[in-house]
Amino acid sequence: MITIENLTKRFPHKTKAGKNTDKTAVDGLSLSIGAGEIFGLLGPNGAGKTTTIRMLTMQTQPTSGRICYEGRALAAYAQELKSVIGVVPQHVNFDQDLTVGENLELHARLHHMKGEDRRQRIHELLQYVELTDVVNDGVRRLSGGMKRRLLIARALLHRPRILFMDEPTVALDPQVRRRIWQLIRQMARDGVTVFLTTHYIEEAESLCDRVAILNKGRLVALDTPKEFCEQLGRYTVEWDGSEGREYKFFAEKQAAAEFAGQQAGDGSILIRPTNLEDAFIELTGRKEGI
Ligand SMILES: Nc1ncnc2c1ncn2[C@@H]1O[C@H](COP(=O)(O)OP(=O)(O)OP(=O)(O)O)[C@@H](O)[C@H]1O
Ligand SMILES: [Mg+2]
Repeated sequence: MITIENLTKRFPHKTKAGKNTDKTAVDGLSLSIGAGEIFGLLGPNGAGKTTTIRMLTMQTQPTSGRICYEGRALAAYAQELKSVIGVVPQHVNFDQDLTVGENLELHARLHHMKGEDRRQRIHELLQYVELTDVVNDGVRRLSGGMKRRLLIARALLHRPRILFMDEPTVALDPQVRRRIWQLIRQMARDGVTVFLTTHYIEEAESLCDRVAILNKGRLVALDTPKEFCEQLGRYTVEWDGSEGREYKFFAEKQAAAEFAGQQAGDGSILIRPTNLEDAFIELTGRKEGI
């Protein structure tokens, strides 16, 4: 569905000494995403996630590299792209002077949605994200979480086949977050391709078919959440060490138990299944970047 080859983005950058240089935000990224896949892009702040989404959605030009949708180069697909994709941006970008309803209406009209279908779809999505009661309120008056919910409703309005979500559930309460997860899963079952970024590792673990980890613009790993944990070792032993919490990973439960046994008397020791967060921290560094 989407193929990225050697995608690179450099921004002009001024050093502390005032010298003009480049800063590489995305560095030779190559990967492909299948139709109907839920693909997660993880990485510390500044890793290049938003820049990648912005290049894929034609909001910014790559410095070099290639993006293909369904085998067609992005430039040849540009016309179609707007109707095919839905985007939940990281930062709110509504017209703040319009109401909730007017913002959705505007988006639907821009996508040429007609009369009854438009009204019905707006009604349905407002109900889904629980914003029906504030349909006539100015966007400015919404809480942070309500704005995020409106961003999601807007992105889904024109029934996109590919959905880009940049930290979709940030600032949402746990109930709404789970409803959004349900919605994302349902959409993937209906054949929609979902490309999301998140800092909630639990979200990636529970939703994503595959996860890519970016660090300083580079792809450091790409796998299924399960495979990430298997590669590190399915069992984690953690304890309070001299420099804070320490972790050791084991392929076999027996070996983990033996290791823990040798530390007898340390009340802080714990054996548990390895999770994606362990893999993320190992791959992106414990001390830097996060
Ligand atoms: N318009 C811009 N001009 C200059 N530098 C930029 C611009 N946009 C992003 N950058 C830089 O590119 C790098 C990657 O930023 P990006 O926003 O893609 O990171 P991110 O992974 O989305 O981070 P976060 O988790 O904080 O959202 C950062 O060093 C950032 O400062
Ligand atoms: Mg970002």
